[in-house]
Amino acid sequence: MRWWTTCVALTSLIPYALLPSYGFSLPQQLEARQNDYPSGSLLHDYPGQHTLPTLELIQKLNATNGTFLPLEEIQGDIMIGMRKPKEIFFFYSIQNPRKFKSVLAKFIYPHITTTAQMVCTTCTQPSAMLNVAWTSQGLRKLGVLDDLGDPYFAMGQLNDAAALGDTDPSTMWAPGLYANKTDGAFLIAARDWEPIDTLLSQMKAWLGDAIVETHSNRGAVRPGDAAGKEHFGWLDGFIQPAVAGFATSTYPGQQLLLPGTLLTKEIGDPRRAARPAWTKWGSFMAYRQLQELVPEFDDYLMQEAALIQDSSRSVRERADLLGARMFGRWKSGTPLDLAPERDDPSIGPNLMLNNNFDFNHPAPFDISSNQSYCPFSAHIRKIRPRADQGNQNLKNQMIRASIPYGEELSDDEINNKKTATERGVAFVTYQSDLGSGFHFQQAEWANNVNIPDGKSDPTPGFDPIVGQNSGKPLVVSGIDYTDLDHDLTFMSFVISKGGDYFFSPSMSAILHKIAA
Ligand code: HEM
Ligand SMILES: *[C@@H]1O[C@H](CO)[C@@H](O)[C@H](O)[C@H]1NC(C)=O
Ligand SMILES: *[C@@H]1O[C@H](CO)[C@@H](O)[C@H](O)[C@H]1NC(C)=O
Ligand SMILES: *[C@@H]1O[C@H](CO)[C@@H](O)[C@H](O)[C@H]1NC(C)=O
Ligand SMILES: *[C@@H]1O[C@H](CO)[C@@H](O)[C@H](O)[C@H]1NC(C)=O
Repeated sequence: MRWWTTCVALTSLIPYALLPSYGFSLPQQLEARQNDYPSGSLLHDYPGQHTLPTLELIQKLNATNGTFLPLEEIQGDIMIGMRKPKEIFFFYSIQNPRKFKSVLAKFIYPHITTTAQMVCTTCTQPSAMLNVAWTSQGLRKLGVLDDLGDPYFAMGQLNDAAALGDTDPSTMWAPGLYANKTDGAFLIAARDWEPIDTLLSQMKAWLGDAIVETHSNRGAVRPGDAAGKEHFGWLDGFIQPAVAGFATSTYPGQQLLLPGTLLTKEIGDPRRAARPAWTKWGSFMAYRQLQELVPEFDDYLMQEAALIQDSSRSVRERADLLGARMFGRWKSGTPLDLAPERDDPSIGPNLMLNNNFDFNHPAPFDISSNQSYCPFSAHIRKIRPRADQGNQNLKNQMIRASIPYGEELSDDEINNKKTATERGVAFVTYQSDLGSGFHFQQAEWANNVNIPDGKSDPTPGFDPIVGQNSGKPLVVSGIDYTDLDHDLTFMSFVISKGGDYFFSPSMSAILHKIAA
């Protein structure tokens, strides 16, 4: 049996004159994206990521097809996902709504970066990309009392924590997130910290006592060969759906979603009719600070591997295989990663196209009982069942825009097999409906031991990577490839430090609704 084929058969220009001087130098402008690419453009295609469509091509097709979205209305992070080298997540509470609105309209708005700016190859890009979003509490403070039609957004993530399976938020969540005082978020991304810190200081100076910081987190792409990988060592963020109205083509195996799966009030938004008109071309953002216990995870895999009777592999190889089965993907850099069966031979061994699988295989393969390639409980199978649901599920999907945070492992942490400083994934998703996107994937799939259903094993168990069981251990089957019914029981190696739910409005809505 060839176990080693696991799962895969294979700114606008800032109007300087308008800005008061605070003794900062304004963030510089970069050249147009393509001129600068790939030496250090703000946007970067990390390993496995598809190249983005260009604005010029989209506009050309728009003129003939007329089906494209107004990308100058849509904030940049929503469409482009995880493609920035450094990013700060800055959370605040609003102390003076009137002053906040006026600073937002006059000074902050011109810095907000749209999708059109991000993908334009002939425009000048800002050196720091700014996106803005608010919690429902924040919108109320700003006098926006409309019901946005999303109950999870309305309640906020703290009130959803029990349903998400989080371990006691009062002790486990970051204090600033647990305080339940976050009204808004600034996401600022750039190539280096300097333009980020410059823009943030400037925004703080403009806002003065209109805001108080509640929490912040600094994410950064990992150095060297680890670029594009989360801290456990897996390439992350490259399986993304294509969005109609933005994508100009789809890659083999890539799913095409209606724009309303991502954007509120667009075609495909399940609550399109109920939402206020001004919500069009916005998106709900879920932020989660997910700590990863990296040395503990590695140690656990080695311990379990040592117990497995498999003389054909070293303990290290068995551990790699167990890890691969938990994710449903090979860890990048492990020797088996290069197994040619991973790729669709008709496409060639190109990592970025390597999403062309659906957990099914040619007959006599039985998808309801056969876990030889991919366990039912694997992370990417739990949160997107593909052929387990006939490849028909187009609604429980989202765009992920996460970035790793925290330092690289120290020698002490490796030697002691114990985390000393916090690191993990600053997990960000966009969707038109939290109850179909992030909340659904976490609460109804990752934490539901019966998913995927209809299998020979009715309880595949928790998602071994992101499943949460309210502080109790996860029970997972299908991972031990020598005994698929052997349940592994362990405390999750991903710990929720909390987060919140935000609405990321269109450019017009920011100016004419939020700041008005
Ligand atoms: C520390 C936490 C997490 C880690 C280390 C992690 C890691 C990964 C990895 C390695 C992949 C496959 C490669 C790729 O991204 O394209 C992936 C895919 C994915 N993950 Fe996670 N993930 C985490 C948290 C989550 C959470 C909390 C959710 C949702 C509740 C989630 C949803 C997804 C989705 C939707 C995909 C793409 C699956 C597909 O379209 O087939 N992830 N993740
Ligand atoms: C596509 O055309 C529509 C209708 O003219 C326009 O509103 C929209 O901004 C265009 N989108 C792009 C990306 O050019
Ligand atoms: C968080 O704040 C909101 C609004 O201020 C309130 O309705 C909710 O009960 C609070 N939740 C907790 C757990 O404190
Ligand atoms: C543009 O329209 C043509 C003809 O209807 C269609 O075949 C093509 O797929 C469309 N292109 C895009 C990118 O939507
Ligand atoms: C699973 O399917 C593969 C490919 O059809 C086959 O080689 C393998 O023996 C099957 N595994 C089991 C346990 O039936």
